Amino acid sequence: MEPLIQCRNVVKIHRGRGLDGLKRGFKAVDDVSFSIEKNGNFGLVGESGCGKTTLARAILYLDPPTSGKVIFDGVDLGSLGLRQLRTFRRRMQIVFQDPHSSLDPRMTVYDSLSEGLINIGVDRVDRTKKISRLLDLVGISSTLSSRFPHEFSTGQRQRIVIARALTMDPEFLILDEPVSNLDVSIQAQVINLLLDIKQELKLTYLFISHDINLVAYMCDRIAVMYRGKIVEQSPTDELFSNPKNEYTRMLLASIPGSSGLSDAIDADIARGESIENTARHVVSNSTSRTSDEPDIAEGTR
Ligand SMILES: Nc1ncnc2c1ncn2[C@@H]1O[C@H](COP(=O)(O)OP(=O)(O)OP(=O)(O)O)[C@@H](O)[C@H]1O
Ligand SMILES: [Mg+2]
Repeated sequence: MEPLIQCRNVVKIHRGRGLDGLKRGFKAVDDVSFSIEKNGNFGLVGESGCGKTTLARAILYLDPPTSGKVIFDGVDLGSLGLRQLRTFRRRMQIVFQDPHSSLDPRMTVYDSLSEGLINIGVDRVDRTKKISRLLDLVGISSTLSSRFPHEFSTGQRQRIVIARALTMDPEFLILDEPVSNLDVSIQAQVINLLLDIKQELKLTYLFISHDINLVAYMCDRIAVMYRGKIVEQSPTDELFSNPKNEYTRMLLASIPGSSGLSDAIDADIARGESIENTARHVVSNSTSRTSDEPDIAEGTR
C-alpha cells in the first residue's frame, strides 16, 4: 500500500544570530525519513528540544524543510504553488499542546469553528450542522457554542481545538503533545477520545510526545528522535522488546518528564503486565475514575 505521508531526508535549519551577532544555522531536524500508512498511528518520541515541533511544522510546510521531501498522497508538497498547497493543507491538520493559545479568546466557539468553513464557502446552515456534529463528536454540547474559550476548562478547550481541526475533514492529523497541558485523569479521556475519533473518521495520526508510555499506548509504530535525528523506528512491541539504540534503551529505563499516567503504567509493568495491556488498563481506569468530571459534565459523551 502507498503510504499516506512520507518524509524523505528532511532537514530543517533554523537561521538566527549567535551572541556574537553573526548569522548561524542550527540543524533542528537532521535527515529524517519515515512513512505513515493510511490509517496508521505513528508515534514520534523524544526529549524537549529534540526537534519534534520543528519537524511537524516542516511536514505541513508551515515552515518548509531546508532540504528533503515531504510526500503526501503521492504528491511532493515542495512542488506545489501556494494555492495548491493551501488546498492540500486542508487534508492535514495539527493540534498543538496548548489549547489556551490555540483558540482566539475574543471568538466564540462557533466563530472559531466557522472560520475555515467560511473560507471554503460553506453556507451558514451547513456550517451550523457541521459544527454541532463535531462538537458532539468531541463531547461538548453544541448549546455551548456561543461561549468563549475562557468559559471552558483546559480539557474542554482541547476538545474544541480537536473539533476545529476536524472542520476541514482532514485525513491526516499531527497531534503535537496534545495532552501535555492536561491533568492526568483528563489526559486519559482526551487520549481515548482521539482513539475513538481516529477509528470513526478513519484518520491517520502522527502522535508526538516526550512520554514513551503514552506513545506506546496510542501508536502501532514509534520513531525515536534524538538531537534532530531519528535514531530508531520500529513497531511498538518490537521497540519495547528489543530496543536497538542506546538512547531508546535510556528512554525506556528512565522515562523523562514521567507523568502520573506513566507512573501508573510503570507500576503495572513492574507487576509483569504487557505494555499494551497495561496502558489500556491504566487509561480506562483513569477514565472511569473521573466519569463525573466537570470537564465533560455538560458534554454529550
Ligand atoms: N523558530 C526558531 N528559530 C530558531 N530556533 C528554533 C526555532 N524553533 C525551534 N528552535 C530550536 O530548535 C530546536 C528544536 O525545537 P523544537 O521546538 O522543534 O523541539 P521539540 O522537540 O518540539 O521540543 P518540546 O518537546 O519542548 O516541544 C530547539 O533547540 C529550539 O530552541
Ligand atoms: Mg514541541
